[in-house]
Amino acid sequence: MGKKDDIIERAARMIDAARKVVTLTGAGISVESGIPDFRSPGGLWTRYDPVVYATFESFISDPSKFWEMAADLHPLLENAEPNPAHLALAELERLGKCDAVITQNIDHLHQRAGSTVVLELHGTYRTGTCLACRKQHTYEQIKVSAFQGEIPRCLSCGGVVKPDVVLFGEPLNASVLQRSNELASECDLMLVIGCGLEVYPAASIPTYAKRAGANIIFVNIASTPYDPIADLILLGKAGEVLPKVVEEYKKITTGGRRHFGIWKSKDN
Ligand code: APR
Repeated sequence: MGKKDDIIERAARMIDAARKVVTLTGAGISVESGIPDFRSPGGLWTRYDPVVYATFESFISDPSKFWEMAADLHPLLENAEPNPAHLALAELERLGKCDAVITQNIDHLHQRAGSTVVLELHGTYRTGTCLACRKQHTYEQIKVSAFQGEIPRCLSCGGVVKPDVVLFGEPLNASVLQRSNELASECDLMLVIGCGLEVYPAASIPTYAKRAGANIIFVNIASTPYDPIADLILLGKAGEVLPKVVEEYKKITTGGRRHFGIWKSKDN
């Protein structure tokens, strides 16, 4: 068995031994669905300065900048399909080995893959809210003008519509963040997939899990500032690595390689 296979098996055995598994995902898990991440070469912030295009302040002063960037992104979001990594996490949930997905992504791909417990830390592109009268709009109501790079206007009052994504300088939904931190503190295994861990408060979530005694598994194509807290790092594309881990987990749990249901934990 090669080194890579051994790490895959170790990850599968950690999942098998875990009582409660919680997953944190970032843009990296959706790159294989055709949606660029933010900070890798060619990422969104290498093409659009987030200070100009993606802060709450810049949106209020000139929403056309954000919607200009959105016109570039919307076709990618619309055409994106869940990739094998999203599907693998949905299967882990069905196998009882993923209690929740905490995602920083706004692309709705976890839900479309079949994950049913998804906390969207940074909101969603699927709805928008009028900044004047707070009326909610669906993406279909927004996209006509947004696709033409125009500023979507409220259907009721004509005010500016802002998508329900969290921009820099904007607070996260307090209850979503609180629940995410609770889940991190309750789990005994956290999978951290495609996260650059450079943006807070999301970047703190693996640390909460670690402090609570959880094992931490990173899946990434590169290193992150938090690699030292990882118990296992699976270097590779999420869409390639995660399906292998799930297949190995199913082999372990159905192939009789477990010791009669009494699992030797990592401590003995
Ligand atoms: N498989 C696994 N990991 C990948 C893949 C892949 N195919 N492709 C890229 N990655 C990794 C990168 O190495 C990087 O560590 O995914 C991570 C993406 O990091 P960022 O681009 O910083 O994205 P993210 O961590 O989601 O950013 C967090 O910052 O700009 C804000 O709101 C935005 O939600 C975003 C937040």
